[in-house]
Amino acid sequence: MGYVTDCVSQVVLRPVLAADERSFLRLARESRDLHDPWVRLPSTSKSFATYLSRSERGVAACMVVCLKNQGDIVGMVNVNGIVRDPYQRGILGFAVFLPYIGRGYMSAGVSLAIHHAFTNLDLHRLEADIQPQNAASLRLVRRLGFRKEGLSPGFIKIAGCWRDHERWAITKDMELPAVPQG
Ligand SMILES: CC(C)(COP(=O)(O)OP(=O)(O)OC[C@H]1O[C@@H](n2cnc3c(N)ncnc32)[C@H](O)[C@@H]1OP(=O)(O)O)[C@@H](O)C(=O)NCCC(=O)NCCS
Repeated sequence: MGYVTDCVSQVVLRPVLAADERSFLRLARESRDLHDPWVRLPSTSKSFATYLSRSERGVAACMVVCLKNQGDIVGMVNVNGIVRDPYQRGILGFAVFLPYIGRGYMSAGVSLAIHHAFTNLDLHRLEADIQPQNAASLRLVRRLGFRKEGLSPGFIKIAGCWRDHERWAITKDMELPAVPQG
């Protein structure tokens, strides 16, 4: 996991803001071919507002991964479907924006999100549901130390089809990806 720590020093994680709407929607539009059929991101002002409101209701933490120096948004990470006692769990969603693919920024951003979830959000368990053909996402969660717990047939409806998903998870007591302090 050496390079994850390396790239963590280049990115920051912060909540997505109303002021991000224009750049977020542009990046999502430009990355649509990459994201289909794995994830659907907001594509209109209205869906972006709904997306923001999930964080406000406390059922999700919607965040963007940004370059530390330039501030450019390179990707998004969400902790969705937060369930409190007795589960203390959330479901991770993540996507890179096209110009920034394959540089390690997302492994770094997701590792920051894991630490945020287990410290500031006080969660115990994070899940990632990934289609078996989604090789890049499977590599990412393996790299960060998630364990595969099974396969759920027809688990999530994406673009009108119920799709099988591998069930991956990491819990607070497992070995977590290293993040430099400070
Ligand atoms: C999954 C996804 C976020 C991964 O994005 P990514 O940019 O490949 O991820 P990272 O930022 O961690 O980059 C890792 C890759 O960069 C490479 N890399 C190149 N230079 C690097 C550097 N300096 N440091 C680290 N990694 C580097 C790594 O080798 C690795 O390549 P590999 O996956 O072929 O082994 C992206 O494919 C995506 O958005 N997919 C569509 C959305 C999606 O599927 N979301 C998940 C739904 S469950």
